[in-house]
Amino acid sequence: MLNLIIADTSLETIPVNVFKHQSLKKIRNSGKKPKEILLDRSLHHFAMMSAKLDEDYKRGRPDILHIALLNALATPLYKRNHLRVFIHTIDDNVILVGNNVRFPKSYSRFEGLMLNLFRDKKIISEDEQLLLDLRSNTNFGDLLKVFVKPEIVLGLSTTGTFKSLESIGADLASYTNGCVVIGGFPKGHFSKNIESYFDKKFSISDMGLESQIIISRLLYEFEKNVLV
Ligand SMILES: C[S@@+](CC[C@H](N)C(=O)[O-])C[C@H]1O[C@@H](n2cnc3c(N)ncnc32)[C@H](O)[C@@H]1O
Repeated sequence: MLNLIIADTSLETIPVNVFKHQSLKKIRNSGKKPKEILLDRSLHHFAMMSAKLDEDYKRGRPDILHIALLNALATPLYKRNHLRVFIHTIDDNVILVGNNVRFPKSYSRFEGLMLNLFRDKKIISEDEQLLLDLRSNTNFGDLLKVFVKPEIVLGLSTTGTFKSLESIGADLASYTNGCVVIGGFPKGHFSKNIESYFDKKFSISDMGLESQIIISRLLYEFEKNVLV
């Protein structure tokens, strides 16, 4: 089994100080409450700049998670139950992704699903399967200790030591419950707290690449060792 954690993910509802910014008057007039809006840099850039959010360069990109999930959940590895997926968000929420979950391809439907999840804490399918389970105020350490319980935690980052994806995939496949952590943010690096849980940290290229590319390629390398 491989556990994939998408960590420090750029997924949160709009902070109140951003919501109050003058450039977002139209949104306020629409009657929506902050808990009903995902922070999105493509719509809220000026308000985010003016609110001087901490680590603003890592925030407001829920589309990164959408694309990453579409890639991970479409793999044979996930479809054959060799992959568990966890999302840790930048403000310490954890989302447990069930088996056989299919995320909507349309971004606006994905956004609606995430807002429903923040409101209801669970998304359950018509046949009563738990698809998504939000655990609020759960930090990265709790996620590892309570839910993942891995034998090894590998972090992937441009600041790691170089190793090919092929050998990382083979290494992970030698464990019955390994874990790999990939960032769900656009720029910057993992928080120091997250890095403190890595047993090893690897870089797979001298280029900084997008999360979905790293995820797809890593899962493929892992898959080659476990599926025929
Ligand atoms: C857009 S990057 C985040 C930017 C960050 N400066 C970086 O390059 O690690 C998103 C994630 O993809 C992974 N990633 C991107 N390029 C990588 C590389 N060359 N080696 C290993 N992981 C990489 C990391 O997990 C990273 O957190």
